[in-house]
Amino acid sequence: MSLGKSARLQQSSRASTAELTAAVRASHQRNPVRLFEDPFARYLCGWFWRLVICLRPLSWILIKGVLRAIEPVTLCVLLRARYAEEALESAVEKGIDQYVIIGAGMDSFAFRRPDLMSRIDVFEIDHPITQAQKLDRIRQAGWSIAPRLHFVQADLSKTSAVEALEGSGFQRSRPTFLTLMGVAYYLTAEDLGETADSISRNLPEGTLLVLDYLLDEASARPEHLLMKEKMKSFVAKRGEPMVSQYSLGAMNALMAAHGFEAVENLTLPQLEQRYRSPQGEWPLEIPSIFGVGTFRVAARSPETA
Ligand SMILES: C[S@@+](CC[C@H](N)C(=O)[O-])C[C@H]1O[C@@H](n2cnc3c(N)ncnc32)[C@H](O)[C@@H]1O
Repeated sequence: MSLGKSARLQQSSRASTAELTAAVRASHQRNPVRLFEDPFARYLCGWFWRLVICLRPLSWILIKGVLRAIEPVTLCVLLRARYAEEALESAVEKGIDQYVIIGAGMDSFAFRRPDLMSRIDVFEIDHPITQAQKLDRIRQAGWSIAPRLHFVQADLSKTSAVEALEGSGFQRSRPTFLTLMGVAYYLTAEDLGETADSISRNLPEGTLLVLDYLLDEASARPEHLLMKEKMKSFVAKRGEPMVSQYSLGAMNALMAAHGFEAVENLTLPQLEQRYRSPQGEWPLEIPSIFGVGTFRVAARSPETA
């Protein structure tokens, strides 16, 4: 089982969307009101984005000019990163000690959080092209790789995440925390269901999966529909068409059909209420374009076990 045909993206674009989200986290570090702290992100960007981040006028032209219509989407990238990391912290407190980042991209968790790295094994699964680029940048930055950090190269259009973990030191018998951030919208519902299925069939009850996804038209606020279309066209032009969207209820139903129960599932504007900063408001409104949820592998009934 695998992520399927919908994940067969153009080779160069895989690394580029991973880099784009790292660039969002990196440029956010200049903002006095922070949604997410990531001082490591800039080192995981290539020369172009580093230049943009360093040169404020260039950054201004790009973000306020070229990308203006979709600028609020950058807040979604930050919100989802914070949500996933808080969910992980809570899972670790409850005893989970394996963390699998599916489609890890330029995620800097393993370098930013030595406090958690000493307590858990982290498995970063990514396409060989993106992962090779990341490993190069890690070498250039001179960072050392923690003993409990494991890099797993896999083309998830050909193999499932669970199969890819084989031989990496990952233990299927232990409840695990997995994330699928910035990936679900590039998969058909069928492929996402297959991914969920392979996790729920092979990993124990209590395993948690956190993912973000695109909200369907009926769930997004009308004033955000144009932004959503512009964002879809922006990523499609880079070879990564977004092919699936859901209401909160449809996502709960999809996950339930594949062995998961919802711990929580909410829109990003709902999530934002949790993160209102005492230092001030975010500079932009959070658009109602994405949902994010935590799903737990449910107890198997005797018929499905
Ligand atoms: C938009 S990035 C998200 C990166 C990161 N999770 C984040 O939230 O910033 C999508 C990631 O999925 C990975 N990916 C896409 N298609 C893949 C495939 N067929 N096999 C493995 N990884 C894939 C890309 O390499 C990239 O790292």
